[in-house]
Amino acid sequence: GKVAVLFGGNSAEREVSLTSGERIYASLTRQGVKCQLIDTCENAVEQLQAYGPDYAFIALHGRGGEDGTMQGLLETMGIPYSGSGVMASALAMDKYRCKLLWQSIGLPTPEFALVMGADNLGHAESLLPAFVKPSMEGSSVGVARVDRREDLEAACQRAGEHKGPVLVESFIDGPEFTVGILNDQALPVIRIEAEGEFYDYEAKYLSDNTRYSIPCGLTSIKEQELQAVALTAFETLGCSGWGRVDFMQDQQGRFWLLEVNTIPGMTDHSLMPMAAADAGLSFDELVIEILKAANV
Ligand code: DAL
Ligand code: MG
Repeated sequence: GKVAVLFGGNSAEREVSLTSGERIYASLTRQGVKCQLIDTCENAVEQLQAYGPDYAFIALHGRGGEDGTMQGLLETMGIPYSGSGVMASALAMDKYRCKLLWQSIGLPTPEFALVMGADNLGHAESLLPAFVKPSMEGSSVGVARVDRREDLEAACQRAGEHKGPVLVESFIDGPEFTVGILNDQALPVIRIEAEGEFYDYEAKYLSDNTRYSIPCGLTSIKEQELQAVALTAFETLGCSGWGRVDFMQDQQGRFWLLEVNTIPGMTDHSLMPMAAADAGLSFDELVIEILKAANV
């Protein structure tokens, strides 16, 4: 069948998605799959109707692509698509609501406060040092680390320029760990150490000094435990197919859930292709496996 690779879009992660989409399109083409790139930044419906795909590979990140809206459009148009469904996509896009859910079943996630306007900064202040984040962005867009009370309000205002409420999350002092999920199974864990203050946009896509460790240095029992938590976190949100679950590790070695990405980056700096490679899957094989889960 014909595959539409949806990429670009209008979110703050447009540039990342352009790269992910081009790499996925090149891979499918190389493997003889009939496909077309569709930039959904405008006329998505018309372009989909004109091409008439049998399947859609959603390579969009952030708003308008990873948040359930595109999934809803494709459902309505009767086009099977890769990754999680409408509800899980919308939920996973909202870090705040994910944390509420995880907390309710006893999964560990850093303490947090929701900030709407300047009213309830009191609880947020008690969490410092903290990360201030837009609840519904990806790739660390709009994220700042705040150590001092007097910097909190300005950071919340800046994060508030993005969509959704502002999340203030207690700072965990340690490296990040991430668990890729493919066909509802966990891939080898990656440990990430950024050079700067945290694993920000620069460290994710531009820097050559971010350290990725795979194997991640955990004992195999600890690694399996982390993979199990990742799968539970993923399933609790109703996610399916593929995705990536991000954690931080504190000084005592405990793990704390940050978020689930339902459409992880597929750039040459991205984590999902690294994890798949360690599991013995080439980029081409990874792309086909993701598509297979869309009932191709
Ligand atoms: N949000 C980016 C694309 C990622 O998680 O890989
Ligand atoms: Mg993300």
